[in-house]
Amino acid sequence: MLEIRSLSAGYGTLTALDAVSARLEPGGRLGVFGHNGAGKTTLLRCIVGAHAAHAGEVVFDGKPVLPGNVPATIRRGIAFVPQGHNVFPNLTVADNLATAGLLFDGKFAGEVLKIFPLLEERRGQRACSLSGGEQQMLALGMALMTQPKWLLLDEPSTGLAPVIVRNVMSQLAKVNAAFGTGLIIVEQNVPATLKVVEHGLILKSGRTVFSGEAATLAAKPDLWEWF
Ligand SMILES: Nc1ncnc2c1ncn2[C@@H]1O[C@H](COP(=O)(O)OP(=O)(O)O)[C@@H](O)[C@H]1O
Ligand SMILES: [Mg+2]
Repeated sequence: MLEIRSLSAGYGTLTALDAVSARLEPGGRLGVFGHNGAGKTTLLRCIVGAHAAHAGEVVFDGKPVLPGNVPATIRRGIAFVPQGHNVFPNLTVADNLATAGLLFDGKFAGEVLKIFPLLEERRGQRACSLSGGEQQMLALGMALMTQPKWLLLDEPSTGLAPVIVRNVMSQLAKVNAAFGTGLIIVEQNVPATLKVVEHGLILKSGRTVFSGEAATLAAKPDLWEWF
């Protein structure tokens, strides 16, 4: 269980998150939406303990996530893929996976390559020679090397062509089904994300303007009113 309990956070006097809550069962899938500056990245950074909330808390499997020790959070089972291509460009696909799994079970690379056959094909190739979509797949594979219970993704579709975005989303669905990994996906591409998630959270200036079923959002023609 991952619980975000009335979390407020900011930078100096600026409030970036204002009493945001969510409660996710193991293997749950949440999409977090909102304009630039809505507080989405701050929320992910608080969940992984990279930023200290000034009120509220994140409770994971009954224990709070303590800020200031991201490696400890990752060891507990929460992995974070920040925005951008988080790969070592000069290392091969296989070495990127091995490096990401250094403190974990390196043999798990076999499982990762099994669900991403394209990475298996390219395992000897340097990451910088992969396309944007392939690099995103590798970044996802690297996060999986920590065998997380929860995977946090900050705008995984940024800079990708629409057809590739659909690929990334279906890979995330595959990971969720294969390993039971819970997903928290921050995205600008709402329709593509709603195909994968079961719950949606819309933030506006740090406040929750919608929290509920993804199907409710998908069925709402005037969704943009919330943004
Ligand atoms: N390191 C920082 N220092 C000061 N202000 C920040 C910092 N990071 C984000 N902010 C501000 O906090 C608010 C929320 O930012 P962020 O969480 O990055 O939003 P989003 O990811 O939804 O675009 C914005 O007003 C942003 O300018
Ligand atoms: Mg952001």
